[in-house]
Amino acid sequence: MVIARNVCKTYDEGNKVLQDVNFIIDKGEFVFLVGASGAGKSTLIKMFLREITPTTGEFIVNNKDIAKIKHKEIPFFRRTIGVVFQDFRLLEDKTVKENIEFAMIVVGAPKSLRRKKIPEILSLVGLTHRAKAYPKNLSGGEKQRVAIARAIVNNPSMLIADEPTGNLDPETAWEIMHLLDDINKKGTTVVVATHAKEIVDTMKKRVIAIENGTIVRDEEKGVYGYDE
Ligand SMILES: Nc1ncnc2c1ncn2[C@@H]1O[C@H](COP(=O)(O)OP(=O)(O)OP(=O)(O)O)[C@@H](O)[C@H]1O
Ligand SMILES: [Mg+2]
Repeated sequence: MVIARNVCKTYDEGNKVLQDVNFIIDKGEFVFLVGASGAGKSTLIKMFLREITPTTGEFIVNNKDIAKIKHKEIPFFRRTIGVVFQDFRLLEDKTVKENIEFAMIVVGAPKSLRRKKIPEILSLVGLTHRAKAYPKNLSGGEKQRVAIARAIVNNPSMLIADEPTGNLDPETAWEIMHLLDDINKKGTTVVVATHAKEIVDTMKKRVIAIENGTIVRDEEKGVYGYDE
């Protein structure tokens, strides 16, 4: 569960990037975060990951005020949250399987668990047949599937995605959004910042729209709501 209460963010140079942002995201929800370029979506996404903290107000993730998490606890906090970016960020010298396995090794998962879990995750993201491939030989959609597999392999409570389909063609973008929807249906909270108007309009999920750092709309079964 995530609670944003009167969240404001001002960067050093003084521009107010977020102003009085309020929302509650319950466990198990699927939320699209939309807004024009520069609106503040990525800034908000960074708060979910505790990459930044509010200048004023509170941002609470799984009952923890992110501003009060001690530095040495941040890595443990981040393990509870999976993250996916537009540019995939895979380890190029590791295979698909190794990319996923590395995420498990980092958190100390024993080999027995890795052996069990990796085939399950590969199957879930539809990449069993590409397990031994290197990222350079994958399509964009396949790369994003690996990134998603890696993000969820340690069973995070929440999956955060910042423009996960930004580098993909429309058909592949749909496949990736359906995969995120499947993951959500298995119980993971999913938050997706996106410019994919058609997909948002079709999927009928909760939409939080942000403009100049302020939430201007928050609707169940919402739409994208503006032209780019
Ligand atoms: N570290 C920073 N220091 C100062 N200003 C920043 C910083 N990061 C972002 N900004 C500013 O905050 C505003 C919001 O940026 P943000 O990246 O959150 O937008 P966005 O909604 O994700 O846009 P896009 O759709 O293009 O990704 C922009 O005006 C940006 O220039
Ligand atoms: Mg952004």
